[in-house]
Amino acid sequence: MVASKALFYAVAVVAVVLGNALAASEISQVKIWPMPASVSYGDARLYLSSDFGLSSDSESQILKDAFNRMLAVIKQDHVIDANFSAFNRSSLLQGLHIVVSSPDEQLLYGTDESYKLMVPSPEKPGYAHLEAKTVYGALHGLQTFSQLCYFNIRRRVLEVNMSPWTIIDQPRFPFRGLLIDTSRHYLPLAVIKKVIDSMSYAKLNVLHWHIVDTQSFPLEIPSYPKLWDGAYSLSERYSAADAAEVVRHVVLLFFLLSHVSK
Ligand SMILES: *[C@@H]1O[C@H](CO)[C@@H](O)[C@H](O)[C@H]1NC(C)=O
Ligand SMILES: *[C@@H]1O[C@H](CO)[C@@H](O)[C@H](O)[C@H]1NC(C)=O
Repeated sequence: MVASKALFYAVAVVAVVLGNALAASEISQVKIWPMPASVSYGDARLYLSSDFGLSSDSESQILKDAFNRMLAVIKQDHVIDANFSAFNRSSLLQGLHIVVSSPDEQLLYGTDESYKLMVPSPEKPGYAHLEAKTVYGALHGLQTFSQLCYFNIRRRVLEVNMSPWTIIDQPRFPFRGLLIDTSRHYLPLAVIKKVIDSMSYAKLNVLHWHIVDTQSFPLEIPSYPKLWDGAYSLSERYSAADAAEVVRHVVLLFFLLSHVSK
């Protein structure tokens, strides 16, 4: 929790320093993090229908998994039990239509991460529209879409304010890293996983795990079994399997490039 908050503020500072195309008064209205390259919005309110789903010609499992993670993030475990018959049907979104033009899912430095998000879709009534060259651009679009959605606790429905939205975006830098230093300050595995989750929300893509140094050596090295005696304590250590599990979390869930220092 503390780590994700720290990350949030770090990203906030970076975003403020870098600035962007919108005027300051408009920035305070647009709560998207980091601020997309281009944003326009209106003043209408839309609602996500109870069976809000993914619509796409793409068979990508990466895309399906990301869509389901996005839904879980916006629902925040709330029960959606709104009385949908009381809503004007023209204000309901049935789903998000996603168009990914390239089937190539190889992730390389410099892979196209751009996307365009329109809510609602100008072509498919009752849907939001997301298009991207690669599935990785679509993942960023899903993150941005999640930040347009709020759970309305009174009506018990997910809503999108300030519609219609048109967002055209791509990360400003290909390398967007965060360094954690577990040599100077041990982080429990659950905290590291939360940090990685937060990185995906903030569209960061490189985790630099500075795992050992002079101050402590928390990592198990099977060929040198005494090294991790240099940990702060018995429990403040990572087994080789723990480290592998963190890398799996990075790779499977968020496709970050990982780099284990030293
Ligand atoms: C749901 O809304 C409809 C239309 O406004 C209304 O007739 C109905 O009584 C509502 N149902 C409940 C359970 O509140
Ligand atoms: C539903 O919304 C549309 C568009 O805003 C409006 O034209 C229509 O009158 C509304 N229908 C009802 C029943 O309120």
